[in-house]
Amino acid sequence: MNFKRTTVTSALPYANGPVHIGHLAGVYVPADIYVRYLRLKGEEVLFVGGSDEHGVPITIKARNEGVSPQDIVDRYHSIIKNAFAEFGIKFDVYSRTTSKTHKKVASDFFKKLYEDGKFIEQTSEQYYDTEAKQFLADRYITGKCPHCGNEKAYGDQCESCGTSLSATDLINPKSAISGSIPEMRETKHWYLPLDQHESWLRQWILEDHKEWKTNVYGQCKSWLDMGLQPRAVSRDLDWGIPVPVEGAEGKVLYVWFDAPIGYISNTKELCEAESEKFGNWETWWKDPETRLVHFIGKDNIVFHCIVFPAMLKAERSYILPDNVPANEFLNLEGDKISTSRNWAVWLHEYLVDFPGKQDVLRYVLTANAPETKDNDFTWKDFQARNNNELVAVYGNFVNRALVLTKKYFDGKVPALNELTDYDKQTLADFANVKIEVEKLLDTFHFRDAQKEAMNLARIGNKYLAETEPWKLAKTDMSRVETILNISLQIAANLSIAFEPFLPFSSEKLRNMLNLGSFDWADLGKMDLLATGHQLNKPELLFERIEDEQIDTQLAKLHATKLANEANETSTKVAPVKENVTFDDFMKMDIRVGTVLECTKVPKADKLLQFKLDDGMGGRTILSGIAAYYPNPEELVGSQVLFIANFPPRKLRGIDSEGMILSAENPDGSLTLIRPSEKLSNGSPIV
Ligand code: MF3
Ligand code: ZN
Repeated sequence: MNFKRTTVTSALPYANGPVHIGHLAGVYVPADIYVRYLRLKGEEVLFVGGSDEHGVPITIKARNEGVSPQDIVDRYHSIIKNAFAEFGIKFDVYSRTTSKTHKKVASDFFKKLYEDGKFIEQTSEQYYDTEAKQFLADRYITGKCPHCGNEKAYGDQCESCGTSLSATDLINPKSAISGSIPEMRETKHWYLPLDQHESWLRQWILEDHKEWKTNVYGQCKSWLDMGLQPRAVSRDLDWGIPVPVEGAEGKVLYVWFDAPIGYISNTKELCEAESEKFGNWETWWKDPETRLVHFIGKDNIVFHCIVFPAMLKAERSYILPDNVPANEFLNLEGDKISTSRNWAVWLHEYLVDFPGKQDVLRYVLTANAPETKDNDFTWKDFQARNNNELVAVYGNFVNRALVLTKKYFDGKVPALNELTDYDKQTLADFANVKIEVEKLLDTFHFRDAQKEAMNLARIGNKYLAETEPWKLAKTDMSRVETILNISLQIAANLSIAFEPFLPFSSEKLRNMLNLGSFDWADLGKMDLLATGHQLNKPELLFERIEDEQIDTQLAKLHATKLANEANETSTKVAPVKENVTFDDFMKMDIRVGTVLECTKVPKADKLLQFKLDDGMGGRTILSGIAAYYPNPEELVGSQVLFIANFPPRKLRGIDSEGMILSAENPDGSLTLIRPSEKLSNGSPIV
């Protein structure tokens, strides 16, 4: 099939939190690379994005913060939109599902299917909170997990054992809104009868789209083989688009029904605002000569390959996606990225920590893109790829070519004289790269495509390193001219080849080369810069990233890990004791001392005998921690805290003059509290 134009969508992120590297790697960078490539080729393409602003998690976040759901989505929509813009993700439109246009488009879409009899109605029993007077979404019910006994499982999932649940599985369910015990009530909903769509879906995916990525095809096949069930497209909730039929008060469209329609609404909003540039919105969604491509993460496959196509088919006037190049997940330093555990590299924080280095992240995320399996992002790899590839290969090559041209030819492109065999070989290697990059981009192999672009830089770098023009300057200026001409042509080609991947650096490079407009067809040409063409001042394309910057990031993650562990154990901490007054506290004389001697007390397995320098002439204290310090002599020299104003008491015939402070761990063991800095003995704790 020959298409005339392409509509590219990228999953609408939920506007209930900022975006992180996982989002960028899985969806937005690949989509942006693809769109930039098509634009460079001069193809007609529309790149649609936006925020997904409905759904239960947004209402929960709003409730927790005591603000409205609209406040939440307003906040995150602008944070997300801004982060994408900063990373050069160049949407033609980035709108939101709370827009007026979307409400109308989604509502009309539902109405059309409803009137055409494309839904079935079913009544089911659902939990209802009689105090809050509302039906409860599964997330709003907590109770005991039937699998692992966790008392705080949610109605849709137990976060302790990971099992997916439905609310009726929970033992002792409670409403998370009022805390009351919910009751079962009947409620009516509209369902998309996916079972009725199964046979054409089987044909369309399993037979007609064998070229889809294996991870996508495989997931679709397993859904289809399990047999499709009707899916509810409405919910009892007060946040969302009202179900536009009579008798549906208090019901809204299910978020996964309205969100993909958001792609259409956002297109419509753009085309109506800029009709001269983008034409009629329907062309992008209904013309069979338009190719539709959805960029998503793997958790969205069923919605984009099965549910949304069934909706589009049922509506009857829309085209279906031609491809859905979904990615797997990106992990961070070996662990699953998690918003609730703050295990992520947030884009807005990266921009502060690495200003101007958006391309470095784009590069690393593409180099490690989770295209066929989950992949891992590590800061060490980030540093290595920057220093060893971007700086040492691409940056180094470009910088040498420009600096040498400035030095020998005053920044003017020198002539191309007679070619050696090596020159010819270099030019030939070069022509191949273009074909290879194209083939890979056309088939969504972005990681390998970028690798090929980098090969081009390697060819250049090797060429300069081996021809060593700086050594020829005194003897053979004609040869220097040719070498630098070829090098500069390669640099100009790099600015084109890398434009989809590293748009900021490409622009910078083009500015240095003083290169005007260009397009993909120029790639592979060796006459992009005319002899005598004046170059601009060379600047560094990339900078080294030092260990300290990486250590800072690792320390940040380490702190997150510690905080999470503290959280996990915090359920086991002892309850807070009865209040005391400040005066009570001030009566205690707690001080710093240094251990001078520490030995086991004979015949008492629990006791250690400490001799302390207490800054007041020394004292002896017995402490019941022998079990936790099998080598007490190792404590000599440590500083500890002790209570100095306990009356002395005799234990095993020894006078103990105070008490040494320890912390009790969750398992009941004790750990001495030791100041982290050297303090002066006898210093009081205040
Ligand atoms: N908000 C969803 C997610 O983050 C994606 C929605 S994609 C759309 O998983 F098709 F619904 F827009
Ligand atoms: Zn469980």
